[in-house]
Amino acid sequence: MYSWLRAWLFRQDAEKSHDFTMGVLSRYAHTPLSLAWRQQVDAHPVRVMGIDFPNPVGLAAGLDKNGEAIDAFAQMGFGFIEVGTVTPKAQAGNPKPRMFRIPERTAIINRMGFNNKGVDHLVGQISKARFRGVLGINIGKNKDTPEDQAVNDYLLCMRKVYPYASYIAVNISSPNTPGLRAFQHGNALDDLLSALKALQHELHQKDGRYVPLAVKIAPDLTDEGITDIAQALLKHEIDGVIATNTTLSRDPVAGLPHADEAGGLSGSVLFDSSTRVVQRLCEQLGDQIPVIGVGGIDSPERAQAKLAAGAKLIQVYTGFIYEGPELIRKIVNNL
Ligand code: FNR
Repeated sequence: MYSWLRAWLFRQDAEKSHDFTMGVLSRYAHTPLSLAWRQQVDAHPVRVMGIDFPNPVGLAAGLDKNGEAIDAFAQMGFGFIEVGTVTPKAQAGNPKPRMFRIPERTAIINRMGFNNKGVDHLVGQISKARFRGVLGINIGKNKDTPEDQAVNDYLLCMRKVYPYASYIAVNISSPNTPGLRAFQHGNALDDLLSALKALQHELHQKDGRYVPLAVKIAPDLTDEGITDIAQALLKHEIDGVIATNTTLSRDPVAGLPHADEAGGLSGSVLFDSSTRVVQRLCEQLGDQIPVIGVGGIDSPERAQAKLAAGAKLIQVYTGFIYEGPELIRKIVNNL
């Protein structure tokens, strides 16, 4: 059924299709129409970062930035859902068009730029949802926040989402917010991680609940860059790492329509480079910090390969756009 729907959706502008689909999912999750996407998947419980997941296949950040269709995604069988990236204030993101499909390579290029309705709206949406499963909340900075104050944006979001999150994902790897990826290196990384860890300690004492922190990184890192991040994660006792976000590379889509659009590339063409990052991280982190693998998963085989590279959990975005909810069932039932 999804192939019919997709044929229609893919004739429309990518972002319009996205908004339309999100509208349907949020509006009809608790009506009989939800039978169109509801499915049972096998149980494959895993315990990661001290959290019990019904299965290791999650929805990656960026699809449900405002937490508007959490219940519908849960009905599809995802083992966990990551909402966001959310920023302190609502912001419009980059001018449209800013999302492009490259169907020849089952890829997407996006330069959304953290369009979202702000952290207070997200918290309201989460409170309204019936979902009681594993919810990750992905946080970032507003575009107009100066770099020397960016840490405060992360801290403000963390404070507000802490009571609602199963884990908090710290996005320092979007290519579409100028300066964000600078947090992956040196003192900027060190300062951010120590500030986040201090706040986690404070909120743990106050709230009585320990909410793990996972840092999301880019695929465009040298081996040395990966080592530096791994060392920093170990030093600050970060609870998890999500690898990876989209890539700036265009090699795999060179010459195709939209290949020269600015932004991050995702989908099958990202699989090798992001799996390499998972592998290198796992070599350095051993069993101390779990890796959540994301990038280019579009089949049960690729899901298995990401887990074989050492990931303890996986997430999908672009593969889900191309394959639909059935991809989740196929992956989980093949584990
Ligand atoms: C993303 N991704 C993303 N990641 C993130 O941490 N915060 C975000 O807001 C977004 N937004 C976003 C929008 C769009 C349109 C896409 C395609 C992707 C990145 C996403 O979560 C994932 O890391 C990458 O897309 C790689 O996985 P896939 O798409 O190859 O499965």
